[in-house]
Formats: sequence, C-alpha cells, structure tokens
Amino acid sequence: ISLKPYNTFGIDVQAKHFVSIDNIDDLKTILNHPDYTNKLILGGGSNMLLTKDQNTLVTHINLKGISIISEDDDFAIVKAYAGENWHEFVLWCLENNFGGIENMSLIPGNVGTAPIQNIGAYGVELKDTFLSCEALSVDTITLKTFDKDECNFGYRNSIFKQEAKGKFIITSVTFKLTKRNHKLNINYGTIASELEKKEIKNPTIQDISKAVIFIRESKLPNPKDIGNSGSFFKNPVISKEQFNVLEKQFKNIPNYPVSESEVKVPAGWLIEKAGFKGKRIGNYGVHKKQALVLVNYGNAKGDDILNLSKLIQKTVKRLFDISIEAEVNIL
Ligand code: EPU
Repeated sequence: ISLKPYNTFGIDVQAKHFVSIDNIDDLKTILNHPDYTNKLILGGGSNMLLTKDQNTLVTHINLKGISIISEDDDFAIVKAYAGENWHEFVLWCLENNFGGIENMSLIPGNVGTAPIQNIGAYGVELKDTFLSCEALSVDTITLKTFDKDECNFGYRNSIFKQEAKGKFIITSVTFKLTKRNHKLNINYGTIASELEKKEIKNPTIQDISKAVIFIRESKLPNPKDIGNSGSFFKNPVISKEQFNVLEKQFKNIPNYPVSESEVKVPAGWLIEKAGFKGKRIGNYGVHKKQALVLVNYGNAKGDDILNLSKLIQKTVKRLFDISIEAEVNIL
C-alpha cells in the first residue's frame, strides 16, 4: 500500500505489508511474529522523510484513549495513548482547563512520538509536563514504564533517539497538568505581542493556545495543504568564540544562550542568509515564510528533498562553518 496518507511530507512510497494496531495485545502478537525483524513503526508520520519503498512490515500505532488517572485541586494526572493526535490532545486539555501544553498547540504528530524528540515550541517542551510513559520492549515484549529521569530529555532528544532507539514502542504517555495557578509562558517569540494586539491583559491558557495557533498558521505550512515535516533541521549550538566572530559580521544575528560557553543560533536564519528561503525547484523547495521548513508541493521524491537538504547543509557549512543536523528521520 502507499504510505502517502501516513507521512506529513506526503511522499508516495510503498509498504510491502501494512498493519494498523489499535490494542496492545495485537501489537504483542505482531512483535512475536517470526517474520517481524526489519520493522518500521509509524506514529503520526510527522517527523520522517521517506526516501524509498519500505520492503518490510509497517506497523501503524493507532492506540486511542485519554483518561484522568487522578486529580486534586491543583493538578490532574492525565494518560493519553500513543495514537492520539497531539493537537487534539492539547484541545482536550484546554476544554478541561488543564494547563501546561498550550504553547505546544498545533504541533503535528501523535502523543506517542512526542517524547522521542521531546517536542517543543514557544519556550515549552514536552518534558516540562511529562510524568512517565509506557513502552513495549521489542525484545522482551513486556511493558516498561519510563519516568522522566530515565528518558534523558534534551533539546529535541531523549533516550528513545539514543540507547533505546528501535528497542521500544511507546504505547502511552502520562502528564502532570495544572488545574489552577497555571504557569503561563508568554515571553517567547511573538506571543506577548499577539496578546497585546488583542488587548488581552490577563491571558488564559486558551488565549495562549489561540495566539500560538495564529502565529504557527502565519509561518508554518499546514501539511494538509503543503507536505512538510516542520523544522527539517535542529538549531545548531556553537561556541561563544565562534558566535562573537559571526556577530561582528552580522549585527542582528538572533541567538539563545545555552551555557557560559555556548550559544544556539536559529538554523532558519542561517538558511535564509544562505539564500534558500522560498527557493522552489519544481515540486519541492524551502518554505517562503520559514526557511527551516522544507516542503513538498506535489509529487516530490524523498531523494529530491534529501538532496536539497544536503545542499543546504553544505552551503551553510561553507558560509558560516556551522554544521546543521537534520531533525527529521531519513528512512
Ligand atoms: N528566522 C529567520 N529566517 C527564517 C526563519 C527564522 O531569520 O526563515 C529567525 C527568526 O526571525 C527568529 C529566529 O530565526 O529570530 C527563530 O525563528 P522561530 O521563532 O520561527 O523559531 P525556530 O528556531 O525557527 C523553533 C522550533 C520550532 C518551533 C519554534 C517556536 C527547532 C528546530 N524548531 O523554530 O519547532 O515551533 O522554534 O518555538 O527547534 C519543529 O520542531 O518542527 C518546529 C516547528
């Protein structure tokens, strides 16, 4: 079958076999199957670039359900199964007035893949509300609970991209969310100015979500209209010395301090300076409004986009001596 509907880049490659799983017992059966070796696990398909036919069994994780595990006056412990769409989960939380993930409104993908890269936006990361997740071990076919420390979360990183890569399938994630005294994050990007424009002085978590949705919709292409995987690259971290040299040449270079000795620079800015923003090559290119996003306008091949990404990496390296690393998984 074609995997086109299952990846937000909209790349048309074939899966030799395909199964959509809606309960954990079926997932165990699949993992126990002797033919189950070289596998591909698919969640929301929002962080991958498919460059070839998948000559294997593709397993789509479609486990559903959201429930309140416990609550008191201040907090709610909420468990969501892996196949829940991330943004719909955010909306569910907002309807219940549960705070903590509103800044991550409209991030594509599913709940179960969110911990793998510790999704984040506008000053908030998944790890900030993450309590634990359950994952099925591919080797032992038993469920293991990972608490926050075990997940080793970092910037777009976790144990599931490192030691545990390919060894576990996340089946559910449990969050600790606020019911009152919400901790609002409005000092990142243009959220505060969006709220000001609307003359909102005491924003609710719902107001923040609306502002984030507005900002994202004005900058980031909706995968339903234009295929994409969000940020294609991670923002690189460079040394302070290298940054100081760059800053002499480019006075307004945006930057975020990481530590005493390191600075993060937006890859989108570097790519724009390298002249790629809005560049279109036939069916694919670099988004007009956000250079960090590569897009598929039609029937682009995964390899086309991969080659473009390599050209961008090479050019940024040549111009700035900075290596930018793909955030998206190339398969
Ligand atoms: N910039 C440019 N040109 C561009 C794009 C950005 O000069 O084409 C500059 C902006 O002007 C701004 C800075 O770069 O000064 C940062 O831009 P922005 O706020 O849009 O965020 P980003 O660093 O490009 C990151 C995340 C996004 C997340 C936003 C908002 C990564 C790799 N990306 O992007 O995450 O939504 O911050 O918090 O960290 C994703 O991971 O898929 C994703 C979209």
